Amino acid sequence: MDSLFDSLEEGEDRQERLAELARQVSVCTRCDLALNRTNTVFGTGDPYSPLMLVGEGPGENEDATGLPFVGRAGKLLDDILAAVRLTRQDVYLTNIVKCRAAVQEGGRMKNRQPRAGEIKACNPYLQGQLDAVKPEIILCLGSPAAKTVIDRDFKITRDRGKWYDLDGIKAMATFHPAYVLRQRGEDLDMAKRAVWKDIQNVYAEYQRVLEARE
Ligand code: URA
Repeated sequence: MDSLFDSLEEGEDRQERLAELARQVSVCTRCDLALNRTNTVFGTGDPYSPLMLVGEGPGENEDATGLPFVGRAGKLLDDILAAVRLTRQDVYLTNIVKCRAAVQEGGRMKNRQPRAGEIKACNPYLQGQLDAVKPEIILCLGSPAAKTVIDRDFKITRDRGKWYDLDGIKAMATFHPAYVLRQRGEDLDMAKRAVWKDIQNVYAEYQRVLEARE
Protein backbone atom coordinates (compact mmCIF):
# COMPACT_ATOMS: atom_id res chain seq x y z
CA MET A 1 0.00 0.00 0.00
CA ASP A 2 1.30 3.45 -0.79
CA SER A 3 0.85 6.18 1.80
CA LEU A 4 0.38 9.92 1.58
CA PHE A 5 2.60 10.34 4.61
CA ASP A 6 5.70 8.78 6.07
CA SER A 7 5.20 6.90 9.31
CA LEU A 8 4.53 9.24 12.22
CA GLU A 9 7.65 10.59 13.87
CA GLU A 10 8.03 10.32 17.65
CA GLY A 11 6.33 13.33 19.28
CA GLU A 12 4.31 14.22 16.20
CA ASP A 13 0.68 14.62 17.13
CA ARG A 14 -1.58 11.85 15.87
CA GLN A 15 -4.71 13.97 16.14
CA GLU A 16 -3.14 16.63 13.93
CA ARG A 17 -1.93 14.07 11.42
CA LEU A 18 -5.38 12.48 11.26
CA ALA A 19 -7.12 15.87 11.05
CA GLU A 20 -4.99 16.78 8.04
CA LEU A 21 -5.72 13.43 6.42
CA ALA A 22 -9.46 13.88 7.11
CA ARG A 23 -9.30 17.30 5.47
CA GLN A 24 -7.74 15.73 2.37
CA VAL A 25 -10.41 13.03 2.34
CA SER A 26 -13.20 15.64 2.62
CA VAL A 27 -12.18 17.14 -0.75
CA CYS A 28 -10.99 13.91 -2.39
CA THR A 29 -11.87 13.22 -6.02
CA ARG A 30 -9.67 10.15 -6.54
CA CYS A 31 -12.67 8.06 -7.65
CA ASP A 32 -16.26 8.50 -8.80
CA LEU A 33 -17.70 7.85 -5.34
CA ALA A 34 -16.98 11.56 -4.79
CA LEU A 35 -19.74 12.44 -7.29
CA ASN A 36 -22.70 11.29 -5.20
CA ARG A 37 -21.53 11.62 -1.61
CA THR A 38 -23.15 13.85 0.98
CA ASN A 39 -20.29 13.49 3.47
CA THR A 40 -17.03 11.64 3.57
CA VAL A 41 -16.70 9.26 6.52
CA PHE A 42 -13.15 9.30 7.81
CA GLY A 43 -12.93 7.53 11.16
CA THR A 44 -13.62 7.96 14.85
CA GLY A 45 -12.35 6.84 18.20
CA ASP A 46 -9.09 6.81 20.09
CA PRO A 47 -6.04 7.45 17.88
CA TYR A 48 -3.88 6.02 20.68
CA SER A 49 -5.81 2.75 20.92
CA PRO A 50 -3.86 -0.45 20.22
CA LEU A 51 -6.91 -1.73 18.34
CA MET A 52 -8.15 -0.56 14.93
CA LEU A 53 -11.42 -1.83 13.49
CA VAL A 54 -11.76 -1.67 9.72
CA GLY A 55 -15.16 -1.95 8.06
CA GLU A 56 -16.25 -1.81 4.44
CA GLY A 57 -17.58 1.65 3.77
CA PRO A 58 -20.28 4.15 4.60
CA GLY A 59 -23.91 3.31 3.92
CA GLU A 60 -26.85 5.67 3.67
CA ASN A 61 -26.87 6.67 7.35
CA GLU A 62 -23.12 7.15 7.49
CA ASP A 63 -23.17 9.23 4.30
CA ALA A 64 -25.87 11.42 5.85
CA THR A 65 -24.01 11.94 9.15
CA GLY A 66 -20.32 11.66 8.24
CA LEU A 67 -19.85 9.07 11.01
CA PRO A 68 -18.98 5.37 10.67
CA PHE A 69 -21.38 2.62 11.72
CA VAL A 70 -24.39 4.66 12.78
CA GLY A 71 -27.15 2.39 11.38
CA ARG A 72 -28.38 -1.04 12.55
CA ALA A 73 -24.99 -2.61 11.88
CA GLY A 74 -23.47 0.07 14.09
CA LYS A 75 -25.82 -0.81 16.95
CA LEU A 76 -24.76 -4.46 16.65
CA LEU A 77 -21.11 -3.40 16.54
CA ASP A 78 -21.67 -1.54 19.83
CA ASP A 79 -23.19 -4.72 21.31
CA ILE A 80 -20.24 -6.81 20.08
CA LEU A 81 -17.79 -4.40 21.71
CA ALA A 82 -19.92 -4.25 24.87
CA ALA A 83 -19.65 -8.07 25.14
CA VAL A 84 -16.01 -7.47 26.15
CA ARG A 85 -16.78 -4.19 27.94
CA LEU A 86 -15.31 -2.02 25.19
CA THR A 87 -16.92 1.03 23.62
CA ARG A 88 -16.15 2.65 20.30
CA GLN A 89 -14.22 5.30 22.24
CA ASP A 90 -11.73 2.57 23.23
CA VAL A 91 -10.87 1.67 19.63
CA TYR A 92 -10.12 3.46 16.37
CA LEU A 93 -12.86 2.77 13.82
CA THR A 94 -12.65 3.30 10.08
CA ASN A 95 -13.49 1.75 6.70
CA ILE A 96 -11.60 0.71 3.58
CA VAL A 97 -13.47 3.39 1.58
CA LYS A 98 -14.49 6.79 2.90
CA CYS A 99 -17.44 7.50 0.58
CA ARG A 100 -20.73 5.66 0.13
CA ALA A 101 -20.90 3.17 -2.75
CA ALA A 102 -24.46 3.04 -4.06
CA VAL A 103 -26.43 1.98 -7.10
CA GLN A 104 -29.77 3.27 -8.41
CA GLU A 105 -32.46 0.59 -8.02
CA GLY A 106 -36.20 1.10 -8.34
CA GLY A 107 -35.91 4.87 -8.19
CA ARG A 108 -33.73 4.99 -5.08
CA MET A 109 -30.08 4.61 -4.20
CA LYS A 110 -29.12 1.25 -2.64
CA ASN A 111 -25.83 0.55 -0.88
CA ARG A 112 -23.45 -1.71 -2.83
CA GLN A 113 -19.99 -3.14 -2.21
CA PRO A 114 -17.15 -0.83 -3.22
CA ARG A 115 -15.36 -1.84 -6.45
CA ALA A 116 -11.70 -2.84 -6.60
CA GLY A 117 -10.72 0.48 -8.23
CA GLU A 118 -12.52 2.47 -5.55
CA ILE A 119 -10.84 0.51 -2.78
CA LYS A 120 -7.46 1.00 -4.44
CA ALA A 121 -8.02 4.75 -4.88
CA CYS A 122 -8.89 5.09 -1.18
CA ASN A 123 -6.08 2.86 0.08
CA PRO A 124 -3.55 5.66 0.73
CA TYR A 125 -5.98 7.17 3.25
CA LEU A 126 -6.34 3.88 5.13
CA GLN A 127 -2.57 3.50 5.02
CA GLY A 128 -2.23 7.06 6.36
CA GLN A 129 -4.52 6.17 9.25
CA LEU A 130 -2.48 3.02 9.94
CA ASP A 131 0.74 5.03 9.88
CA ALA A 132 -0.70 7.61 12.30
CA VAL A 133 -2.50 5.33 14.75
CA LYS A 134 0.07 2.52 14.59
CA PRO A 135 -2.36 -0.11 15.89
CA GLU A 136 -0.91 -3.28 17.33
CA ILE A 137 -4.11 -5.19 16.56
CA ILE A 138 -6.46 -4.88 13.57
CA LEU A 139 -9.91 -6.42 13.42
CA CYS A 140 -11.37 -6.45 9.91
CA LEU A 141 -15.14 -6.48 9.71
CA GLY A 142 -16.19 -8.58 6.75
CA SER A 143 -14.65 -9.93 3.60
CA PRO A 144 -13.82 -6.74 1.63
CA ALA A 145 -11.87 -5.33 4.60
CA ALA A 146 -10.09 -8.66 5.14
CA LYS A 147 -9.18 -8.96 1.45
CA THR A 148 -7.86 -5.39 1.46
CA VAL A 149 -5.95 -5.44 4.73
CA ILE A 150 -4.94 -9.08 5.28
CA ASP A 151 -4.83 -11.09 2.06
CA ARG A 152 -6.54 -10.75 -1.31
CA ASP A 153 -7.35 -14.48 -1.20
CA PHE A 154 -8.97 -14.24 2.22
CA LYS A 155 -12.17 -16.32 2.51
CA ILE A 156 -14.26 -15.05 5.40
CA THR A 157 -16.02 -18.35 6.21
CA ARG A 158 -12.71 -20.25 6.06
CA ASP A 159 -10.29 -17.73 7.53
CA ARG A 160 -12.21 -15.63 10.07
CA GLY A 161 -10.99 -15.93 13.62
CA LYS A 162 -7.39 -16.73 12.56
CA TRP A 163 -4.53 -14.46 13.53
CA TYR A 164 -2.32 -13.05 10.77
CA ASP A 165 0.95 -11.22 11.20
CA LEU A 166 1.16 -8.03 9.11
CA ASP A 167 4.69 -6.75 9.65
CA GLY A 168 4.32 -7.12 13.42
CA ILE A 169 0.64 -6.11 13.59
CA LYS A 170 -1.70 -8.90 14.69
CA ALA A 171 -4.71 -8.95 12.38
CA MET A 172 -7.91 -10.94 12.38
CA ALA A 173 -11.20 -10.74 10.52
CA THR A 174 -14.66 -11.57 11.69
CA PHE A 175 -18.10 -11.44 10.06
CA HIS A 176 -19.41 -7.97 9.28
CA PRO A 177 -22.26 -6.96 11.64
CA ALA A 178 -24.52 -6.33 8.60
CA TYR A 179 -23.88 -9.93 7.47
CA VAL A 180 -24.82 -11.19 10.93
CA LEU A 181 -28.05 -9.16 10.78
CA ARG A 182 -28.99 -10.82 7.48
CA GLN A 183 -28.80 -14.36 8.95
CA ARG A 184 -31.81 -16.26 10.28
CA GLY A 185 -32.36 -19.26 12.57
CA GLU A 186 -29.40 -21.57 12.99
CA ASP A 187 -27.22 -19.47 10.67
CA LEU A 188 -27.82 -16.45 12.89
CA ASP A 189 -26.81 -18.41 16.01
CA MET A 190 -23.68 -19.68 14.28
CA ALA A 191 -22.65 -16.25 13.00
CA LYS A 192 -23.22 -14.63 16.40
CA ARG A 193 -21.29 -17.35 18.21
CA ALA A 194 -18.38 -16.93 15.78
CA VAL A 195 -18.25 -13.14 16.20
CA TRP A 196 -18.51 -13.40 19.97
CA LYS A 197 -15.63 -15.88 20.04
CA ASP A 198 -13.53 -13.65 17.77
CA ILE A 199 -14.08 -10.52 19.86
CA GLN A 200 -13.09 -12.42 23.03
CA ASN A 201 -9.81 -13.40 21.36
CA VAL A 202 -9.23 -9.86 20.13
CA TYR A 203 -9.94 -8.52 23.62
CA ALA A 204 -7.45 -10.93 25.20
CA GLU A 205 -4.81 -9.58 22.83
CA TYR A 206 -5.89 -5.97 23.53
CA GLN A 207 -5.50 -6.59 27.29
CA ARG A 208 -2.08 -8.13 26.72
CA VAL A 209 -0.93 -5.07 24.77
CA LEU A 210 -2.28 -2.64 27.38
CA GLU A 211 -0.55 -4.57 30.18
CA ALA A 212 2.72 -4.54 28.24
CA ARG A 213 2.41 -0.75 27.83
CA GLU A 214 2.13 -0.16 31.60
N1 URA B 1 -20.81 -0.71 7.28
C1 URA B 1 -19.48 -0.48 7.22
O1 URA B 1 -18.73 -1.33 6.84
N2 URA B 1 -19.04 0.68 7.62
C2 URA B 1 -19.83 1.64 8.09
O2 URA B 1 -19.34 2.69 8.43
C3 URA B 1 -21.21 1.37 8.15
C4 URA B 1 -21.68 0.19 7.75
